[in-house]
Amino acid sequence: MSLKLIGTKAIVIGASSGIGAELAKQLAEGGALVATIARRTDRLQLLSDRYPERVFPFAHDVNNIAEVPDLFQKCTDTLTGLDLIIYCSGVMPQVGPHEYSTDKDIDMVNVNMSGAVAWLNCAATRMEGTGHGSIIGIGSVAGDRGRSGNPVYAASKAFMHTYMEALRNRLARKGVKVVTIKPGPVQTEMTAALGISNAMPVEKAAQLILHYKDRTGEHYLSPVHRIIFYIIKRIPSPIFRRLNLK
Ligand SMILES: NC(=O)c1ccc[n+]([C@@H]2O[C@H](COP(=O)([O-])OP(=O)(O)OC[C@H]3O[C@@H](n4cnc5c(N)ncnc54)[C@H](OP(=O)(O)O)[C@@H]3O)[C@@H](O)[C@H]2O)c1
Repeated sequence: MSLKLIGTKAIVIGASSGIGAELAKQLAEGGALVATIARRTDRLQLLSDRYPERVFPFAHDVNNIAEVPDLFQKCTDTLTGLDLIIYCSGVMPQVGPHEYSTDKDIDMVNVNMSGAVAWLNCAATRMEGTGHGSIIGIGSVAGDRGRSGNPVYAASKAFMHTYMEALRNRLARKGVKVVTIKPGPVQTEMTAALGISNAMPVEKAAQLILHYKDRTGEHYLSPVHRIIFYIIKRIPSPIFRRLNLK
């Protein structure tokens, strides 16, 4: 898959590990300029040390909503423009089958939803004005139904799907691409403890996400998921409940 990334000006939020780190690496390797955002700046620095003229790390906790507008401006000033923004920050704490932890749930709401809104609203405002750019939100197949395993994680991903669709419906006419990515399991720190045998390698996931970066719409990373989730989404609720999918 050959992509034209040279000179692309990108912001990746959640770039210190997993999908975001691999996206930042592939973007930099392809010749893009990348502003990388996360709390673990030691990890961001490693990529910046390899590509000092292309990778610009910024420390940020997405819970600090108030600092987003200034930091967004700082990123676009550093990059001297913006072609692409990818919101990858996310948390999925393990939740027991009878556990209702408001602390864990609010953390998911803040990182998976509120942080995305704070960053992507800034990008939407700018891109609506320039009539140019791509906005990518990382959803999940977990957001396609209200599965019993981790209710708020599933709900946060359903939120991402609907928010991205609404942005797409606002911005498509302005020439801005809005892309929803729905991965199944990917080999990252988030899934390491779950022992999932068929998780997608993170390198492949990032390659596919970059392949879709200018293709407005919703994309499952695994082609078979397009069919499986077409069916799963149509199972009547009482039957879905009896299936008890986690
Ligand atoms: N792995 C999967 O199977 C899978 C499947 C479907 C969807 N996804 C989604 O893909 C996205 C990336 O997940 P991943 O698997 O790559 O997980 P990961 O390796 O755990 O990476 C999560 C990223 O989120 C950042 N993050 C977490 N809390 C943050 C905070 N408070 N402020 C700023 N950044 C924060 C982390 O950076 P710091 O900790 O350094 O701040 C890290 O860079 C998530 O939205 C996840 O829900 C993953």
